[in-house]
Amino acid sequence: MANNTNLGAAKAAKNDEFYTQYADIQKEINAYLEYNPDTFRDKVILLPCDDPEWSNFTRFFAQNFERLGLRRLISTSYAVESKKYKNYQPTLFETESPWFDIDKTRIKGKIFELTRDTNGNGRIDIDDLEWHYLEGDGDFRSKEVCQLRDEADIIVTNPPFSLFREFLNWIFEAKKQFLIIGNMNAITNKEVFPLIRDNKLWYGPSITSGDREFMIPDDYPIEAAGWRIDEKGNKYIRVKGVRWFTNFDHGRRHEPMRLMTMKDNLRFSKHKDFIEKGYPNYDNYEAIEVPYSDVIPGDYDGAMGVPISFLDKYCPDQFEILGLTQISCHDGLPDIKKYNDYKEIERETDRPTGASGGKTNENAVLKGKGNKKTYYLGPNGEKVYSEYKRILIRRR
Ligand SMILES: C[S@@+](CC[C@H](N)C(=O)[O-])C[C@H]1O[C@@H](n2cnc3c(N)ncnc32)[C@H](O)[C@@H]1O
Repeated sequence: MANNTNLGAAKAAKNDEFYTQYADIQKEINAYLEYNPDTFRDKVILLPCDDPEWSNFTRFFAQNFERLGLRRLISTSYAVESKKYKNYQPTLFETESPWFDIDKTRIKGKIFELTRDTNGNGRIDIDDLEWHYLEGDGDFRSKEVCQLRDEADIIVTNPPFSLFREFLNWIFEAKKQFLIIGNMNAITNKEVFPLIRDNKLWYGPSITSGDREFMIPDDYPIEAAGWRIDEKGNKYIRVKGVRWFTNFDHGRRHEPMRLMTMKDNLRFSKHKDFIEKGYPNYDNYEAIEVPYSDVIPGDYDGAMGVPISFLDKYCPDQFEILGLTQISCHDGLPDIKKYNDYKEIERETDRPTGASGGKTNENAVLKGKGNKKTYYLGPNGEKVYSEYKRILIRRR
């Protein structure tokens, strides 16, 4: 198996046909049910950006319709001619159906609905799905899909990676409950981060590290990515940085992190580089640098800068989020110094790169030359360097 790919690469290639595995959906949904067995009871669920004949979202919710106590399940698909990837054949399910229409099959979206026991076998399940073509191509932004969104209580899907932010806005403008898949880096976006900070959006519980496999069409172009074919001939690609994003409450986010004191972290941490540097103060924020989530001190009341991966363990009862460095999203902890009169220097040669120190404004900046390619030199010989993006937090 070759290297992993990531959703960023998928986005760049505008490769949106990654299908979520049944087990991943099941694991996530079960975690909500564990926290609140009535999470989905009597709700209308919309699965937009789906493809019910291929997608495990429709399969999962249809098969579990009664167990979850759903009122109505709706899923919509996007017309093949509107997709970036057009190499798609209709399934027997469609071609053998009395509603099959050769003129519509490639240009219209489809809607699948489940509300009742249509075949009279005494239960509501996937065999009771009813479908027809939509008026348009099934674009989630179309009037008819927006109308379905407005009728729904909950939106669940793995949206096209290239439209993640737009999709999130689409959910928020209708104020819906939701559960969607995306890349963890999405949170560092200027529009997305405030939602995390204000506790309107958080990670789901079941994926906190590693990568996930998604099914892809047989002849999908794969460039140097981790992939495999299973015994049935299905093709899968491994994707890293995947997270569920939601506004459903769950148990994991109410489990506080178990933290050692500052003193104990400095004695017992497994991170040698941290033990050497300790908890330096930033040069431009009134906060200390905490380079790993597992060395967050449990006895410090001031502000701290922590890595993005902190969000996998974030418990809003334990910490408040003040901001994020770099993107003007830190009103809760303003930066107190700018570097416009500094120069950027290449660390290996100590020569100026020609760039202004203004480049590092709003970063998490520390004193010294650091280990990165460049550092910054001030008018009086001061040396500073920037750390990676940091989330600024404080203990509650
Ligand atoms: C990442 S795939 C996920 C499919 C399915 N939800 C799953 O996880 O199994 C995203 C799907 O959205 C479709 N899509 C792309 N742009 C869309 C749009 N503007 N409106 C609706 N669907 C779209 C893609 O063709 C693709 O089938």
